[in-house]
Amino acid sequence: MSVLRAFQATDLFSFNNINLDFWTETFSISFYLTYLSRWPDLCYMQETPNGRSMGYAIGKAEGSQVDWHGHVTAITVAPEFRRLSLARNMMNALERMSDEVYKGLFVDLFVRISNQIAIDMYEGMGYSVYRRIQQYYGGINGSPDEDAYDMRKPMSRDPHRRTVRQNGRDIVTTAKNITM
Ligand SMILES: CC(C)(COP(=O)(O)OP(=O)(O)OC[C@H]1O[C@@H](n2cnc3c(N)ncnc32)[C@H](O)[C@@H]1OP(=O)(O)O)[C@@H](O)C(=O)NCCC(=O)NCCS
Repeated sequence: MSVLRAFQATDLFSFNNINLDFWTETFSISFYLTYLSRWPDLCYMQETPNGRSMGYAIGKAEGSQVDWHGHVTAITVAPEFRRLSLARNMMNALERMSDEVYKGLFVDLFVRISNQIAIDMYEGMGYSVYRRIQQYYGGINGSPDEDAYDMRKPMSRDPHRRTVRQNGRDIVTTAKNITM
């Protein structure tokens, strides 16, 4: 059993069991607090009934006009709580809020091109690669910088799927050419 609730600032003191993970980035405190003050309805914590942190998602709404969208900045689940649909539940919540409240045309996210489990999960949820961004991520443990896939899923305001494309893996760009 688990509880899905809003992420709170005090969760930063108890999410080590989630963040001590190869794929999970730890940002500065001001980074998290900016998200909590600006987009509290796009930041979620999933916890056990007795309050142990299981996983969280942090998102925002950004862009303008035909680029207005929800963005998944981080989603991660502690290893001992994986494959329980926690990520699916948080993605559903973030998409619903992006669609119904923020009226975004799509939801997007960035993922390391070597993170096959996450890429497969997103594709299973209806996301597709929109473009590849060269050297978007710093290397881990001394390895070279790594490319990202920018993946998108259209929301209800884009019934004709104008915000996604078929050949996104072939579209290569650099971080300085994209707005984030
Ligand atoms: C990716 C991650 C968030 C998935 O969390 P999760 O709670 O285990 O995912 P869910 O249980 O909601 O799985 C949803 C679907 O994704 C796919 N999936 C998730 N983990 C998978 C795995 N290890 N192997 C194969 N498929 C997997 C499955 O299709 C799954 O649906 P199913 O269980 O009905 O088959 C988790 O593995 C994680 O925290 N990884 C480290 C951080 C990370 O990579 N975050 C993404 C950065 S962009």
